[in-house]
Amino acid sequence: MAARAPTTLGEWLQWAQRAYARGGVALGQVATTAHDEALYLLLRTLGLPLDSKPAVLKRKLTAEETGRVEEVLRRRIKDRTPAAYLTREAFLGEHRFYVDERVIIPRSYFLELLPAIADLVECRAGSPNPASKRTPKKAGFGNPALQSRKPVKRAVDVCTGSGCLAILLAHQFPEAKVDAIELSPEALAVAKFNVAAHHLAARVKLHHSDVFDALKPVRYDLILSNPPYVPTRELRGLPEEFTKEPAMALDGGRDGLDIIRKIFSQSRERLQPHGIVVLEVGGLRAAMDRAFPELDLHWLHTEDGEDCVCVVSAARLAKWRG
Ligand SMILES: C[S@@+](CC[C@H](N)C(=O)[O-])C[C@H]1O[C@@H](n2cnc3c(N)ncnc32)[C@H](O)[C@@H]1O
Repeated sequence: MAARAPTTLGEWLQWAQRAYARGGVALGQVATTAHDEALYLLLRTLGLPLDSKPAVLKRKLTAEETGRVEEVLRRRIKDRTPAAYLTREAFLGEHRFYVDERVIIPRSYFLELLPAIADLVECRAGSPNPASKRTPKKAGFGNPALQSRKPVKRAVDVCTGSGCLAILLAHQFPEAKVDAIELSPEALAVAKFNVAAHHLAARVKLHHSDVFDALKPVRYDLILSNPPYVPTRELRGLPEEFTKEPAMALDGGRDGLDIIRKIFSQSRERLQPHGIVVLEVGGLRAAMDRAFPELDLHWLHTEDGEDCVCVVSAARLAKWRG
């Protein structure tokens, strides 16, 4: 006898989890478990709040709702459409962004790391000169809690995609003007929508440019980027869901470092003396340490231990001969 078709939301959730596993659905774009992603997709499809109480799982679906759920799960599991392209949204923490196939789905470590990055750059800028006789150690130099802070005034997000990180920068640094650079005109249109939706058009300026090529020679306190870093030959091996994202958002050239090299090279002329560059580079940590030994890359610790975001100071970059 055929198994009874799911009728409640909870039964559909269990059905979806089994189908995800059977179909080898790839995770990581929206959530890291099938349970979390399928629950999100079901709640959104039914127009229910994402913070619904567990009792919502007992809710019986109408025939019309069942049709909608079947269709969305078919597109996710059979067609391998990423969940965020089905719902047209993605989150970094509480921040919601419009997304579609023109942009990569936001999933950056910068949400977690921005407060630590703010400490790094604002304390560097505000610190008394450690060499000065007027600033003895006991005055608190070296202790961020006692240091004077100098707020970030200019920051830039290179390779902005949906604009998500430029928007996070604007929220993190309320006094800053933020530039957001992107080479894809299609992605820029999405970024423009998101910047307006976050009411940040007065502070976040979008630029169509290959890294800094088309930008005026402004000097920044902070240059941040989550650039394309997948080595070209690895693109073919990606799970189908990831191949639905723009190739240009992933492809970092032969060794994955093409855009990163250009960012480092152009940042030399773009940083304030106290400024820093922070880059998120996925699995390239070892390759980066090998490629840029003189930069003495400092890797920030992330909660999951991936530690894939590095910091370089203006002083280090100035000495770099790359
Ligand atoms: C990994 S995605 C990051 C998008 C966004 N910052 C995020 O974290 O979701 C890289 C972005 O860089 C853009 N890009 C690729 N090459 C570029 C270049 N030479 N100059 C500027 N942007 C570039 C891609 O179109 C893509 O939107």
